[in-house]
Amino acid sequence: MNLFDVYPLNDITIVKAAGSHVWDDKGVKYLDLYGGHAVISIGHTHPHYVKRLEDQLHKVGFYSNSIKIPLQAELAEKLGKVSGKDDYQLFLCNSGAEANENALKLASFYNGRKKIIAFSKAFHGRTSLAVAVTDNPGLVAPVNQTDNVLFLPFNDEEALEEAFTKNDISSVIIEGIQGVGGINIASDGFLQKIRSLCDQYNAVFIADSVQCGYGRSGKFYSHDHSGVNADIYTMAKGMGNGFPVAGISIAPKFKPKHFMLGTTFGGNHLACAAALAVLEVIEEDGLIKNAEKIGNYLMNELKKLPLIKEVRGRGLMIGIELPDELKAVKKNLLYNHKIFTGEAKPNIIRLLPALNISTVEADIFLTAFTKELNSMMVSA
Ligand SMILES: Cc1ncc(COP(=O)(O)O)c(C=O)c1O
Repeated sequence: MNLFDVYPLNDITIVKAAGSHVWDDKGVKYLDLYGGHAVISIGHTHPHYVKRLEDQLHKVGFYSNSIKIPLQAELAEKLGKVSGKDDYQLFLCNSGAEANENALKLASFYNGRKKIIAFSKAFHGRTSLAVAVTDNPGLVAPVNQTDNVLFLPFNDEEALEEAFTKNDISSVIIEGIQGVGGINIASDGFLQKIRSLCDQYNAVFIADSVQCGYGRSGKFYSHDHSGVNADIYTMAKGMGNGFPVAGISIAPKFKPKHFMLGTTFGGNHLACAAALAVLEVIEEDGLIKNAEKIGNYLMNELKKLPLIKEVRGRGLMIGIELPDELKAVKKNLLYNHKIFTGEAKPNIIRLLPALNISTVEADIFLTAFTKELNSMMVSA
């Protein structure tokens, strides 16, 4: 049997990982500023994480949501505390797309409406509703097409106000910082406008925090920079540091009914142990502050370099936009300097490192990146 070939692959096999480094099967060490797509939040194979998962595995790995799982309540309490949303409620699932599906569905149950506002360049996942609110027709199969989604220009307050006037909007879904779309920040004013319109029209504000959440931006949810609360936060990626766990944090005004949401695997014992270990490390090691500090350092240093068109981002979610003719830089960083980075488009490099990356590691990247840019200037 062959694998269904849906990913263009780098010819690299990772066999070992620790902190912000990974090693391939030939013993070559790489600096990981990609974190497997913003997933590695507390560093690879963090000792506390490994121990908590290992201990849990020896007790019970899985049982279904038909019994009490006290680890879920422990996780809800910890998440409420670390995220600063103690009075919210937690529903656990397995992936970012699934979190967004559940959020959009819950919003529709809540106000009985069907229309959803999403934004240009948004990415919310690949399942039915999640892909329908994703602004990439190439990912949408005919069966996913729907008239219920209205795409508006990002950060355009006038278009948003206009869209609400029919009073038929169920929810607005927005990434605080667009990831796949190229590291575009939702302005504080725009998020405040979404809040006030949702209040005025009884619509639901869904903050997709799957990539930009979990402390990466220097606040727990990147939407927090705006000073307003969303009604539902969706999260995944950094939540389990690689263990598939996701969730939605739900404002108190939503009242649960049995069976309105559900899952087989969501919130299992191992997933909760992974998520708890991540939050414990984030809290104990002050990783949100570190994300802010190293992120500011990286962005300030990057802004001094030549050739770059723009540096965008917050905390450790950074986009470096290069002129089109420099799109080889990302591959060169990987193959010449052994540094993994992400990309939005070939000319937009995304930095999504672990939140405990050090200044020394940031400097290794800055030195390599400067060398690459200098060599491009010489060859130009
Ligand atoms: C903002 C955002 N939402 C949702 C998703 C989908 O998450 P998953 O791949 O876990 O379904 C992603 C994945 O990249 C994402 O970046």
